[in-house]
Amino acid sequence: MAYENIRLEKDGPLAILTVDRPKALNALNSATFHEMDDAIRSLKFDETRALIVTGGGDKAFVAGADIAEMVTITAAQAREFSALGHHVFQSLENLPIPTIAAVNGFALGGGLELALGCDLIYASEKAKLGLPEVTLGVIPGFGGTQRLTRLVGRARAKELLFTADRIDAARAKEMGLVLDVVPADKLMEHCRAVAAKILKNGPLAVAQAKRVVEYGADQDLRSANELERQGFAVLFGSEDQREGMAAFLAKRPAAFQGK
Ligand code: CAA
Repeated sequence: MAYENIRLEKDGPLAILTVDRPKALNALNSATFHEMDDAIRSLKFDETRALIVTGGGDKAFVAGADIAEMVTITAAQAREFSALGHHVFQSLENLPIPTIAAVNGFALGGGLELALGCDLIYASEKAKLGLPEVTLGVIPGFGGTQRLTRLVGRARAKELLFTADRIDAARAKEMGLVLDVVPADKLMEHCRAVAAKILKNGPLAVAQAKRVVEYGADQDLRSANELERQGFAVLFGSEDQREGMAAFLAKRPAAFQGK
């Protein structure tokens, strides 16, 4: 599929997905979601082991769902649009590789929801984040009400949802929404460095760590700990576990194969 609204680049084991409609501040319309879906499905995990998501141009990560597309839709169409956004962000969350949001500018509405679908969020000093949906007479429709609440707690999430405040990156970091804030021209370098660190580690172990955190977060502690026990045991059937431990004992770097 040829893409008009996104770019998918590969740099060895790292993939970079850029939402690239700078004239509309990278707003998410249905066509963009379908391209993102295709791009995510196209990833082969024996080649691609980490994904960075960012926005094209120098102003926005993603300024939300496309208001021009939504302005005339019916409730039934809104349900479909919401389902499409949920599907794409859920697929991101389900990827067996770590995903990093490089928030390089406005991350509003659906843009913040996209970042929230990633495992790690880093922001440039220029970033502005928020959920302005109530100013449009709606609420977030791509998981923002739920993922933000799980990340920063109900009270802060409600504050952002009710006030539609646009917060800067430093404030977002204070509330645990963003992990680190870096100068704009260092953002991709920072995200690449984090990805490079992860890429040195056993990919099956990283995938299990992601899986048990994600699935465990929705469960009671006992069930969640059982998930961890299963994940831990499963890894002992892998070559990576034998290689990782043998390498440690032989005082050499491990050469993981993801098997
Ligand atoms: N949808 C469609 N077009 C958008 C857009 C969006 N979400 N955000 C920006 N654009 C377009 C503008 O209409 C404008 O287009 P034209 O040049 O053709 O007029 C262009 O991008 C540049 O935007 P501005 O001129 O507004 O740029 P600015 O620097 O003055 O302001 C901004 C930047 C504060 C981000 C402002 O564009 C803005 O408030 N955007 C909307 C943010 C928003 O409300 N997002 C939530 C959308 S609803 C949602 O996401 C629902 C959901 O969860 C399902």
